Amino acid sequence: MNIRIFDHAEQVGQAAATIMAAQVLEKPAAVLGLATGSSPVPAYRQLIRMHQSGALDFSQVTSFNLDEYVGIPEDHPCSYHRFMQENLFGQVNIPSDNTHVPDGNGVNLEETARAYDEAIQAAGGIDLQLLGIGRNGHIGFNEPGDEFIWGCHVVTLTESTIDANKRFFASEADVPRKAISLGVGAIVAARKVLLIATGKDKAEAIRGAVQGDVSPRLPASILRTHPQVTFLLDRDAASLL
Ligand code: F6R
Repeated sequence: MNIRIFDHAEQVGQAAATIMAAQVLEKPAAVLGLATGSSPVPAYRQLIRMHQSGALDFSQVTSFNLDEYVGIPEDHPCSYHRFMQENLFGQVNIPSDNTHVPDGNGVNLEETARAYDEAIQAAGGIDLQLLGIGRNGHIGFNEPGDEFIWGCHVVTLTESTIDANKRFFASEADVPRKAISLGVGAIVAARKVLLIATGKDKAEAIRGAVQGDVSPRLPASILRTHPQVTFLLDRDAASLL
């Protein structure tokens, strides 16, 4: 596990964007695993700047997002479809057919989940998986539990996640209670993993992920079994290491 610590969140974003850009330059048809939430935003901003300056071409890139809420429309202001459109896809030249975000509105979500894993396999797997981390140590929406869930699945969000994500919604009652998430299987099968964490409220989860037992009680701890994982942290997120 490679751990790099920076003074500011903006530098964390720069470093993440540099690693993602290097992946796309090395393999223009790269398959990127993408995350939403606050953590990747500085990295996406930097990738957009690189694209606008002509340094980065997304025309052959394929992407798979980690997760989506169940039961809100794709154009809902808090949906992850909309987030990706506004924060990355709409501002770079990735073909929309190449972008994938789980469909949280399908009639058969188990089937949707199975097809999502198959689509990743068919694309040749993920070259570089970008992750944030929840305060409770979740990656994607793999919430703490008794066992790691390997495949893409429907998850009931924990109180901790609902509380953390209510800032994006009008009220806590509006936060969906369910989501569809990639399992830890597709994440650890990615050839490289990049986890971004900034802020004091991530420090406990980072300590558990880096120094605690590998346990489904702290899903990010599974990353310790991965041969090519990099944690990009600011000083606050690294403060308990
Ligand atoms: C988002 C995702 C989540 C977030 C995590 C941290 O697609 O999968 O695991 O990465 O909840 O969210 P932020 O960055 O908003 O603190």
